[in-house]
Amino acid sequence: MSTPGATPAAPAPAAGSDDQTPLVQVDHVKQYFPIKDGLLIDREVAAVHAVDDVTFSIGRGETFGLVGESGCGKSTLSRSIMRLLDPTSGTIRFDGADITHIKQKALRPLRRDMQMIFQDPYASLNPRKRVIQIVGDPIKILGGVRGGKAVKARVQELLATVGLNPEHINRYPHEFSGGQRQRIGVARALALEPKLIVADEPVSALDVSVQAQIINLLDDLQEKFGLTYIFVAHDLGVVRHVSDRVAVMYLGKIMEVSPADELYARPIHPYTVALLSAIPIPDPHTQAARERIVLTGDVPSPIDPPKGCRFHPRCPRATDVCGQVEPPLVDYGSGHLAACHHPVGVSAEALAAGTIAPESPASAGTAPPDAREAGRSWDDGPAPLV
Ligand SMILES: Nc1ncnc2c1ncn2[C@@H]1O[C@H](COP(=O)(O)OP(=O)(O)O)[C@@H](O)[C@H]1O
Ligand code: SF4
Ligand SMILES: [Mg+2]
Repeated sequence: MSTPGATPAAPAPAAGSDDQTPLVQVDHVKQYFPIKDGLLIDREVAAVHAVDDVTFSIGRGETFGLVGESGCGKSTLSRSIMRLLDPTSGTIRFDGADITHIKQKALRPLRRDMQMIFQDPYASLNPRKRVIQIVGDPIKILGGVRGGKAVKARVQELLATVGLNPEHINRYPHEFSGGQRQRIGVARALALEPKLIVADEPVSALDVSVQAQIINLLDDLQEKFGLTYIFVAHDLGVVRHVSDRVAVMYLGKIMEVSPADELYARPIHPYTVALLSAIPIPDPHTQAARERIVLTGDVPSPIDPPKGCRFHPRCPRATDVCGQVEPPLVDYGSGHLAACHHPVGVSAEALAAGTIAPESPASAGTAPPDAREAGRSWDDGPAPLV
């Protein structure tokens, strides 16, 4: 993005960073929130296990979809990566540099390189500020651009980039529609020419008719500016067409991660199968043919998560082992990983070739699924006990 009044060049990438180094590397990250008994002594009595040993990396220019029901830890993980939180353990690397525990001053350049787009475009925009301030302030404060004219020109250019009228710089957020407000949020995120944009449910609060416009805008901007995205959503439908890869989270853990096309065509994890069954298909015949899997019960508390597989109290395929041993993340080839003792539709060859992935949590078991699970469809259920 080369523009008049553009921000100064980004700081040099860390040693070891090159085009092959993933932009984001999340390595066995935990983010717990301590619950304290603050009455007499400030001691920790329990913890919310919001993110619990999660590993993945994101390549430059990639869109990484992060999907799961509300409360499964998507926003917390996003905030850990952005270093808005101090991770409990594990390592986060950005552009090759370890940023896990870097201090405020060192975080400053990162605040430019990583930007966030929020779910509720109204709540995330200060209602008392005009667009020129909302989009222009970060340019002045973090971008170091001085002079009203330069800032104004840059804000107008950004508004045009996101499909808004550049003449509207003096308007307040309430003078825009929901979709337009989200465009202002996108302009603000773009202002400092970031490398990474974390879009946390960016269209969940918008009318369905407007959702596609914002998604298309994000798609266009990615191509134009070579952006890398983490795209958070609570259903698989929203991220389908934008994601290169998708990770499905449940109660702080990654259940399945895969190239997007592969995940939608051949889901392995029962939780993914259930989430996919909830997406409406435009063709009524196909919709009628597909059984909707209704998950009963709520997501359990992350304060005391279920033993074994965290999904087992709600899983239609669960057997005894599921409540006892946490299933490891198994690599079935082509970057398709799933953590389940009774995987859905995995061929005998893929099962035989499956290996425990380095991404598997330290607390997980070390035995991949039994060979008798090969080729079992959803309707077949798990292999019978012998
Ligand atoms: N600051 C916090 N203190 C304590 N618990 C939190 C905090 N932030 C989030 N949580 C809890 O962590 C879990 C994951 O939340 P969140 O990351 O917001 O999920 P999601 O974005 O997937 O809906 C939830 O149980 C939530 O209540
Ligand atoms: S391990 Fe068991 S409970 Fe967990 S998803 Fe697989 S079948 Fe269901
Ligand atoms: Mg959230």
